[in-house]
Amino acid sequence: MTSKPLISLSLLCFCLSANAESPLTLEQRLGKQLYNDTNLSTNRNQACASCHSTKKLTGKAPAFVDPANVKQGTPVSLGSIEFATGTLNAPSAAYAGFSPPFHWDDKDGTYEGGQFWNGRANDLAEQAQKPLLNPLEMAMPNEWAVVSRLKANPAYVKLFYTLYQLDLNAVPDIKDAQFNQQAPQAVAEIYQKLAQAIATFEKSPEFSKFNSKFDFVLAGQTQFTALEAEGKQLFNGKAGCSNCHISHAKTDTGGHLVPPLFTDFTYDNIGLPRNLKIPGNPKPNLGLGERSDIRKLDSNKEQWGKHKVMSLRNIALTPPYGHNGVFATLEQITHFYNTRDTLGTVANNLNADFGVSGWPKPEVAINVNHDELGNLGLTPAQENAVVAFMKTLTDDYPEWGNDPLVPPGTPSPFAGITPPTTISP
Ligand code: HEC
Ligand code: HEC
Repeated sequence: MTSKPLISLSLLCFCLSANAESPLTLEQRLGKQLYNDTNLSTNRNQACASCHSTKKLTGKAPAFVDPANVKQGTPVSLGSIEFATGTLNAPSAAYAGFSPPFHWDDKDGTYEGGQFWNGRANDLAEQAQKPLLNPLEMAMPNEWAVVSRLKANPAYVKLFYTLYQLDLNAVPDIKDAQFNQQAPQAVAEIYQKLAQAIATFEKSPEFSKFNSKFDFVLAGQTQFTALEAEGKQLFNGKAGCSNCHISHAKTDTGGHLVPPLFTDFTYDNIGLPRNLKIPGNPKPNLGLGERSDIRKLDSNKEQWGKHKVMSLRNIALTPPYGHNGVFATLEQITHFYNTRDTLGTVANNLNADFGVSGWPKPEVAINVNHDELGNLGLTPAQENAVVAFMKTLTDDYPEWGNDPLVPPGTPSPFAGITPPTTISP
């Protein structure tokens, strides 16, 4: 909740290019290969792309989430090791690079930015180091083991030398190591570059296409239907969604229009009910309250239960919704925003009347936002309109929209807007 611009315009790189599919740089190509490489997981069965797929979903556009969640409605992803599952729903990796580094915003009195539902990684490069070593995800035992997998691939040996002057062959394979032998110094450096290459790929136009219907309407190239236009008005007005999911465009100093990302990257507790479909029934996730650094500063528990406001771009493609995936559809989460405080109560989300006659109590009762949501007074028709508006945020509109004003192949009006490409050293 903030009235500030979603991204400071100075951060934007306006590398406007003639075509939307601008070729990747060499480092981005390395990043792409790493992002898709299942050899970087312990059982050689999982890559970043397994949970953040680059393939088209429901025939429309890639949405950079776990296709198994979308197809089966499962809230969490399977790991590389059999029966290992995480406890949170995989968010989209698209548009994620626009999140500023995690920081406290004094003016708004809230944390902002970072990666993950609780912002614990500052940026994409820091984020990309985590899943490889997470026992519930790619489950590699340590950085040295990852580097040993890298050096088995001659293409990586070549690219790491060309791009970073790092010689993978100079690092011994971990299987030849003595018991308790320390990792060679170069390992940390190589591991960091691996993450940097992945982050650089995630900042390529493939992850920020800006070619949804919303973008073409913003650029004046086509029009919303009456229902979508009504939904937009409600989203920005009566429903109050845009308080957090920022929806207005900005103009940069050069006079270019900068499309919105539908998030202000702040944190809030919207009162999600617990999701009993998560295997192992983990305890409620406290969001910012899970972080020891924040807990130290937060004796009144003011940050407990707060999760990051996620972008709504491509949101129609990425069910289930919320950090624990408790909502199956856009209709359901919209109904929740509208009636959380008015509908009645059901015991839990396995109840057949979940969202019909009532909602369960919030997973984390402290800090639930009652000022901006929970009782919006929308009619069912108005809820539908808000959903119709969110469906205009799906990319690759020229390809699937069947709109004569925006025929297949029409370039994005905002092609080339990408997050800053320089990454912390
Ligand atoms: C087993 C599934 C899985 C794999 C594999 C995986 N992720 Fe994720 N990813 C997740 C989940 C779940 C989260 C949310 C976790 C959290 O917030 O604590 C997440 C969060 C993220 C985010 C944060 C997005 C945001 O807006 O905050 C990014 C970026 C990301 N992953 C990229 C990657 C990259 C890069 C890789 C490979 C190095 C990768 N992921 C591998 C499941 C996965
Ligand atoms: C006060 C800030 C705020 C307002 C207002 C708000 N949201 Fe959200 N929204 C959030 C936060 C925070 C999350 C993530 C919450 C979580 O998972 O615990 C979220 C998540 C979502 C998600 C799921 C995102 C995902 O990746 O799973 C959707 C869809 C959504 N909001 C739509 C809406 C709509 C529609 C409205 C208006 C009716 C709205 N939001 C109003 C803060 C807000």
